[in-house]
Amino acid sequence: MCGIIGAIHMKGNVAPLLRKSLKRLEYRGYDSSGIATAANGVIFIKKDKGKIDEIHQQINFDTLPGSIGIGHTRWATHGPPSKLNAHPHTDCYDRIAVVHNGIIENYQELRQILLEGGHQFRSQTDTEVIPHLIEDALNHTSRLENAVARVLPKLEGSYAIVVLEAKGNELVCARKESPLVIGLGQRGIYCASDVPAFLPMTRKTIVLEDNELVHLTANGALLTRLDENGSPTRLPLRIPTEVQWTIDMAQKGGYPHFMLKEIHEQPTAIRDTLRMKKSDFENFADVLHNHKKVITVAAGTSYHATLAAKYMFSQISNFLVHDVIASEGTDTVASSLGEDTAVLAVTQSGETVDTLHAVKHLKKQGSTVLAITNTVGSSITRMADHVVYTQAGPEIGVAATKTFATQLATLASLSTYLGVLTGAQTIKEKNELLAALNQFPELIEIIIRNQENAIKDASQEYITRSNFFFLGRGISTATALEGALKIKEIAYVHAEGYPAGESKHGPIALVEPGFPIVFVAPNDKTRRHLEGNVMEMKARGAQIISICSAQDTTLINLSDHAISLPPLPSILFSPICYVVPLQLLAYYAAILRGHNPDQPRNLAKAVTVL
Ligand code: M6R
Repeated sequence: MCGIIGAIHMKGNVAPLLRKSLKRLEYRGYDSSGIATAANGVIFIKKDKGKIDEIHQQINFDTLPGSIGIGHTRWATHGPPSKLNAHPHTDCYDRIAVVHNGIIENYQELRQILLEGGHQFRSQTDTEVIPHLIEDALNHTSRLENAVARVLPKLEGSYAIVVLEAKGNELVCARKESPLVIGLGQRGIYCASDVPAFLPMTRKTIVLEDNELVHLTANGALLTRLDENGSPTRLPLRIPTEVQWTIDMAQKGGYPHFMLKEIHEQPTAIRDTLRMKKSDFENFADVLHNHKKVITVAAGTSYHATLAAKYMFSQISNFLVHDVIASEGTDTVASSLGEDTAVLAVTQSGETVDTLHAVKHLKKQGSTVLAITNTVGSSITRMADHVVYTQAGPEIGVAATKTFATQLATLASLSTYLGVLTGAQTIKEKNELLAALNQFPELIEIIIRNQENAIKDASQEYITRSNFFFLGRGISTATALEGALKIKEIAYVHAEGYPAGESKHGPIALVEPGFPIVFVAPNDKTRRHLEGNVMEMKARGAQIISICSAQDTTLINLSDHAISLPPLPSILFSPICYVVPLQLLAYYAAILRGHNPDQPRNLAKAVTVL
């Protein structure tokens, strides 16, 4: 997730406006920034690694000349944060500059073709293929709009782009699966990833749809729809909507909190993550398979993802891993590990000191380190031998939600590749599992659409309770632990996550009439035995809240409150969907109890102390 902006200013230099717009987009990414303007037939660029204000202090963006320009604030996906990888990117002759948000899946093939055609690249980004492709297309047409239209059908993946030409009298922007909004002001015309970018200048917005391209000049905007071959049809410009949001509301996409926005962003985050290169997963699976011992290391929510992975690796790949809580890592198992060990570290921030500390220790002992992280250029990426990135974009809420979803999706995908190597899956079966996994984003959309209000009501009913159990069996133990952590950390409600079967060995002593127990109950192999645990708790007067399949009428009838989910295309990945109601439950419990879920007390987004 990055933030992009394009602007044509009617009077005066546009650079200060672009810089301030980027500042308002920083919640979308902040590891590097850049601005390009055009004046007198020349493109001028300033860009660097770091936050916009820091870079501005060093190189003063505001001195860029010209009344037309583009800007970018980056959340790295391809290539670490650096000056060269920062946007805008240009063609061989610096005639075309492009900013991009999204992922070009086939960039390696395109780059190879362009290199063979004599193009020269300066960055490691996927984006840089775009200006070079436009450079080639301009050999066939003199109009920038037509050149961009020729290029777009070649791009696989997702994009919102803005293109600036040295001539400096027009911008062309387009989108596919990444957001792009047009702003029509009295003193300027704008396009951006999100409304806050231009909100102080105009509230008149037009949201672009997939496969739409807009040609912007000082005289206005022309809208074109492209079919899959890139054939254009000119459309009348839609009537702008007048946005009523404040900047703060706009940054949260109209949601009251980042956490709720991020829960809703999970389908997109998973889709983007599953777009990552197949070869990364194959390589990871290969390394795991070639080691005698494999452990996972992680903290907090990331630990819960690794716990779910333990079950997925076992059931899908017939492969045993040992899950280690990072802060326990060096004390518990380290002495028995060495060169025969692969360590799979999972950390969204890549900066959790517990995880880094354990990894450093194990690396010293000769173990191979694989990392799954959301943050390009983070400390873990410098320690690891191999890295796979989740594509959640920046997560502003302290409570991990969309990053958990993307970790689960990555680990689920990995388990299928590993399954082929161990012989547990045929290629056909692996592909079927991956096809099922690709359906999960849509299911999350359905769950949120159908259940958010019911969950809000449930939190209202249980708001005054000060203790909860979250119980599940098998892989749902991981989901239950995550549900308990969420409600603890943001609603300050004491909750215990526990394996349901184990609850009768002690925790059940706490249960008395009215005690709320959330059962995570997908229709998998554990479901039959779980019913026994439900009955045990009911017999002691507990109130049963179950998260279960809509077809599970038995459990629905046994429950005081049932949140029912659609049938899943593969039950083996159930936490990806089953955690969503628990995130919403925690969110609404926090709101009803009067707490700000984005900034829970005593916590930090990245915990950098041992
Ligand atoms: O950045 P990491 O994934 O390494 O962070 C680990 C934990 O600190 C983190 O998951 C924490 O538990 C979250 N606040 C949970 O919502």
